[in-house]
Amino acid sequence: MKVLVIGSGGREHAIVNKISTSAKVSKIYCAPGNAGIAEKAECVDIAVSDLNGLADFAEEKAIDLTIVGMDEPLVAGVVDVFEERGLRIFGPRKNAAIIEGSKAFSKDLMKKYGIPSAAYETFDTPAKAIEYLRTSQYPIVLKADGLALGKGVLICQDYSEAEEGVKLIMEDKHFGTAGDRLIIEEFMTGREVSVLAFCDGTRILPMTSAQDHKRAKDGDKGLNTGGMGTFSPSPFYTKEIDALCRETIYQPTMDAMKAEGRDFVGILFVGLMLTKDGPKVVEYNARFGDPEAQVILPRMKNDLIEVCEACIDGRLDQIKLEFENNASVCVILASEGYPMHYEKGYPIHGLEKFRNKEDYFVFHAGTIKDGENFITNGGRVLGVTAKGKDLQEARHKAYEATTWIKFANKYMRTDIGKAIDEVQ
Ligand code: AMP
Ligand code: GLY
Repeated sequence: MKVLVIGSGGREHAIVNKISTSAKVSKIYCAPGNAGIAEKAECVDIAVSDLNGLADFAEEKAIDLTIVGMDEPLVAGVVDVFEERGLRIFGPRKNAAIIEGSKAFSKDLMKKYGIPSAAYETFDTPAKAIEYLRTSQYPIVLKADGLALGKGVLICQDYSEAEEGVKLIMEDKHFGTAGDRLIIEEFMTGREVSVLAFCDGTRILPMTSAQDHKRAKDGDKGLNTGGMGTFSPSPFYTKEIDALCRETIYQPTMDAMKAEGRDFVGILFVGLMLTKDGPKVVEYNARFGDPEAQVILPRMKNDLIEVCEACIDGRLDQIKLEFENNASVCVILASEGYPMHYEKGYPIHGLEKFRNKEDYFVFHAGTIKDGENFITNGGRVLGVTAKGKDLQEARHKAYEATTWIKFANKYMRTDIGKAIDEVQ
């Protein structure tokens, strides 16, 4: 089979790496890809926003299956464009990807179908939002409605912070048109867990759990980022919690989408908060998480292509998901200053140390090649993943492997997975 992967981050590198092990796959393309992905796939310079350009390419190369890694083309309707042209593609259609594309949509869906989540109100004008905030309880959460690279959420400690936040989102349009509408949400406390699931429109099959670390600095300080590191599985996500989530969140979400005429096929990423009142949904995404994919896929035993095809064909009942009975930790190596201003263009050394090492992976995010050299080219540069018999061992190995890589302005959190010590 010839497969096309759409995207250019560490997540897409993890997807390409995984499908390169499939006996079904003879050739992999990635649009646009990156310097690391280019070692296993042919990268083609088509922007993820160029939906017709992507479909033209898939037609021309007779691609058998396209896998969409990123949210932006999904929300823009890449699956609809491909399907209209008879091209096979894995991901939700536009009318289902809205579960990630509009927080107002997903909050209304959860309210309508009784899926546990934080209480909220939606606002179209700053004046109404500010009026509401005068009598609110703090802390409180402000969310831009649309896509904002995982950064459109502000947690405000008091009225003056919240008032500034409304101005930033709705007036200054700090997150662009994503801020045309604003959701104001009750602040929840608890442990966060990411559960990603394969969906075939009717059925939902959750994978092993993971936990992200969204803040830039140790101790969950600093700005929200796309994610600074992950571990899998989460020891806080017990069998009992899993059973409860399947009953109150996962299947009800699938049923709700179906009832709305928005059958969801693809990866549903459920961001959960384990509150004292039970698990609640923080957010939905319509794709693999980044960097969740970098810890989940290396532990997956199934052939990813087989599972994607079963989703597209509506026969997930024939699949039994299997994950290795071990653990993995991913530490993101970023450019100092991310997610704000950072320098790039520095040579990266030590990548060769990962060759032929079974339990170690280096996934590229922001890298380019200059001749034979890899150069930093983004905020998140690399994801270093290691597997171990348990989380402690995996973390030890991942941090050991971070020392193999050297580049100017290298920055990482030193406490990825530290929370796991609490359960030992
Ligand atoms: P989101 O983009 O919706 O996942 O939000 C980013 C991060 O903000 C989440 O991972 C949480 O850490 C935090 N967050 C979002 N909503 C809430 C909430 N209602 N209560 C507490 N924290 C939240
Ligand atoms: N790691 C969070 C996300 O992919 O949105």
